[in-house]
Amino acid sequence: MHIRKATCLLASLALLGGASRAADPLQPTGQWAEKSFGSAPLPPMGWNSWNAFHTQIDEAKLRGAAQAIVDSGLRDRGYRYINIDDGWWQLRRQTDGRMVVRTSIFPSAVGPAPDQTSFRPLVDWLHSQGLKAGIYSDIGRNACSQGYPEPDSLLPTGSRPEREVGLYDHVAQDLALYFQEWGFDYIKVDGCGLNAFSADKPAVRSGQFREFPALVVSDAINQTHIAAIRDLYGEVRDTLRRVRPAGDFTFSICNWGTANVRAWGRDYGNLWRTSDDIEPRWSRMLYNFDSVATRELYSGPGHWNDPDMLYVGQGDFDAGHLTEARTHFALWAIEDAPLIIGYDLRQAPGALLDILGNPEVVAVNQDPDGNQGVLAFTSDDLEIIVKQLSARSEKAVVIFNRGTAPVTAQLTAAHLKYQPGTAIHVRDLWKKLDLPDFADEASFTLAPHESLMLRVRGQPRLVAGIYLSEMPARVFVAADGIRALQPDPEIHRPVSMGEGSTRGSGPRPALAGWGGPRADSTPYNNELRLRGHAYDSGIGTLANSRLQVRTAGQFTRFTAEVGLDDTSLERRTKVRFEVYGDGRLLARSPALAADDAPYALQTAVSGVQTLELVARGIGHETAPTVVTWGDAALRN
Ligand code: GAL
Repeated sequence: MHIRKATCLLASLALLGGASRAADPLQPTGQWAEKSFGSAPLPPMGWNSWNAFHTQIDEAKLRGAAQAIVDSGLRDRGYRYINIDDGWWQLRRQTDGRMVVRTSIFPSAVGPAPDQTSFRPLVDWLHSQGLKAGIYSDIGRNACSQGYPEPDSLLPTGSRPEREVGLYDHVAQDLALYFQEWGFDYIKVDGCGLNAFSADKPAVRSGQFREFPALVVSDAINQTHIAAIRDLYGEVRDTLRRVRPAGDFTFSICNWGTANVRAWGRDYGNLWRTSDDIEPRWSRMLYNFDSVATRELYSGPGHWNDPDMLYVGQGDFDAGHLTEARTHFALWAIEDAPLIIGYDLRQAPGALLDILGNPEVVAVNQDPDGNQGVLAFTSDDLEIIVKQLSARSEKAVVIFNRGTAPVTAQLTAAHLKYQPGTAIHVRDLWKKLDLPDFADEASFTLAPHESLMLRVRGQPRLVAGIYLSEMPARVFVAADGIRALQPDPEIHRPVSMGEGSTRGSGPRPALAGWGGPRADSTPYNNELRLRGHAYDSGIGTLANSRLQVRTAGQFTRFTAEVGLDDTSLERRTKVRFEVYGDGRLLARSPALAADDAPYALQTAVSGVQTLELVARGIGHETAPTVVTWGDAALRN
């Protein structure tokens, strides 16, 4: 019977998802389509219990972390959220479904009876310290610790229904409890209830847990029920808006980058995980970093790509590996990742606190414009990432040695989109030192695993204007043009992922997103090129895509050179490029064929709030049609 109910749910959710997608995705709406909700104007900063303690969390550890954040000055650097992860729950009370806190580890939650508990005293204490409080749940009936128990996991207790601690069928009740009665400010909603309790699992077969059909199949996009998953998270978002009408909540979606969350996360949550769990290993950190590094057009104020919490302080990033710790932190900072510490701060050496609290690095992450860093150079060993800051002439740069040998990198004015021959001022954010100015090119030698984090100031190449690829936070991908979802082969796969052995055939690409629009790159990670001419600035996308740009009445002209990219596999369809301002057609190209010269599109955009860029494919595609908006720019 339960199986039938869940199957019906799936069918009806799939229908709903289908209906909402019926509108023509290329039709300009004339309005900024992204929904804004909750509170995450900057990447959230704080602490979470999981990476430090797994389910061995208790109140003393949590209060100790909070106290250390206050005493060390990290709170005043921006670390505000103290988030409880898996392990806090005792059971769900069966008389009325109310959740009960495990008071053996959270003594301040003790109430008048064993099943009358409250996190309110702890939350009040955190608030009194100038901090905010976060809680954790699951979108299904059961939690990750139940699905993937570790030998010492503190698991919910009692009968099967008492152990159903997740949000499923209890969204309104649980969120009212957590956000109204207890006063939490932040929730992370995990997804194990959707993948660890299918009928074939031994714990389900034995009757220990109720079956829940596998909506998430982590390594198979085609078997993952995207619309159903999206709608379950949508119910949480809508309920949060009801229980906290002032919008003072933050909603973290944790479905590990599955279900193509890249494309819908920003309309459903304030942050969404882009990959599987981070581990305190170099190779695993690279995998988590790579899962965000090409998603620059999906992140921005209110909605952030989340490569998972920090592991600074442990394993390959501990006090004996400060080079690696700095690199991990620099990468998270420049990618606008949430900075959530996962370390037992009660024993943190000063050198680690100095990394986490480096005010100039934190300021890069917390820059108000919220532009994620864009890859300016990429190779197996060395990468250069550039992030436009809110002062037009300033950028942050990470030069990053992924490899095991020293390497020399040339940082060029072109990487920075600065004018050749003009002075570029450079500050080293780790050394807190100004370096000598340079023009055109500077060389830096990096030790293995080292990263250099710089803040530069120079003369933008576009004197009175900005390239769209310099303002990724203001781009909204309304339609990505992808016909069939494919795993992204560019995301590095750590050797010992999964079982931690080489049994089986090893990890395979799993995360969708291959073919999504990019800044300064084609969707397939090639250089942008039209008829042999390379563009180091521009937007690469597929035919049948629509991008919105929040112009907010600040610009006078839009200019671009457009065409089918030289790397397009499809050569026979034609593409018409259209530019709309607040829903009105402003300019369009003729139908362009593969070998046509780049077409110069330009139009006045004065007063336009929302610009829409449509690339419309004409003719039957047999392969993806790659198109380029070369040098796409807004002029003042
Ligand atoms: C995972 C999640 C981790 C942690 C863990 C708790 O699914 O990605 O961040 O929350 O569950 O069991």
